[in-house]
Amino acid sequence: MGNVITDGEIVVSGLTKHYKQVKAVDGLSFTIQPGRVTGFLGPNGAGKTTTLRMILNLVSPTAGTATIGGSRYADLAEPLHAVGAVLEASSAHKGRTGRNHLRVVCAAAGLPDSRADEALELVGLTPAAKRKFKGYSLGMRQRLGIAAAMLGDPRVLILDEPANGLDPEGIRWMRDLLQKLAGEGRTILVSSHLLSEMELLADDVVIIAAGRLVAQGTVAEVIGKAGTAGTVRVRTPHPDTLLGALDGIGSSHGDDGALLLTGVTAEQVGDAALRAGVAIHELVTERPDLERVFLDLTAGKEAIR
Ligand SMILES: Nc1ncnc2c1ncn2[C@@H]1O[C@H](COP(=O)(O)OP(=O)(O)OP(=O)(O)O)[C@@H](O)[C@H]1O
Ligand SMILES: [Mg+2]
Repeated sequence: MGNVITDGEIVVSGLTKHYKQVKAVDGLSFTIQPGRVTGFLGPNGAGKTTTLRMILNLVSPTAGTATIGGSRYADLAEPLHAVGAVLEASSAHKGRTGRNHLRVVCAAAGLPDSRADEALELVGLTPAAKRKFKGYSLGMRQRLGIAAAMLGDPRVLILDEPANGLDPEGIRWMRDLLQKLAGEGRTILVSSHLLSEMELLADDVVIIAAGRLVAQGTVAEVIGKAGTAGTVRVRTPHPDTLLGALDGIGSSHGDDGALLLTGVTAEQVGDAALRAGVAIHELVTERPDLERVFLDLTAGKEAIR
């Protein structure tokens, strides 16, 4: 007897995959909550795809477990209703229309044909339903992949690099769709190395490098905990005088000639400028973004192991 999924929590515990040459995933543990979009981040070769494939029982772990709603994928009674996945730029028979492709999947899965049209509607492909797959753009193929993953109305949706090849409009569309699906209580796990998009898209992030966990939490928590210094951006006609008044502060020049200061607050810069009698034309605190934090956390851990 298989297990029916009750909630969509994904629990990864001590998950490990060693190939001959490389520890692709190395003792990885994290939890993914339902009702949220979780970004799974890491540099190329970090082990993201290998982890997602182990969660989906497509790669067998060397050690550790991954469960969805308390069951291993292989033990799920109705995997199509439990988990939808888009693992790479989806493919379909070139001569088939998008709608026929989905109908074939429905037939194989014992789902009614009507699900094909509902899924096309969900991903905004209804106008292209009767066009042949070979004429689909990369963005349309990504949408069709998501439509196929959603046919069984799954509680959990797992997407490997779905933003690849999408234009800014397509990424915005993806963001709206994933947030809507998470709002319905589904678990959305989406891998990416497109950090700026992930900062907008994800509620939570799990960051890995070289097969190991480096950070996990809400986007704000991860940025806060990393301790990556923010910078104070200041523009003045007398930068040398200001720097003299701010003894020993790290500084660099921005593209536009503004001073970028670290290890100091905007208040301290303003007070120092007043003491030194220097005019200030601009004074801004720049919060570190996820991209900066990600680069700090994963520095030196890429690829070579
Ligand atoms: N079947 C395999 N045999 C041998 N090594 C593998 C295999 N699959 C993955 N690897 C190695 O495991 C490591 C992790 O690969 P993985 O594809 O999981 O990374 P990733 O984070 O998805 O990277 P990317 O951002 O490039 O997609 C890499 O060093 C890769 O070469
Ligand atoms: Mg990958």
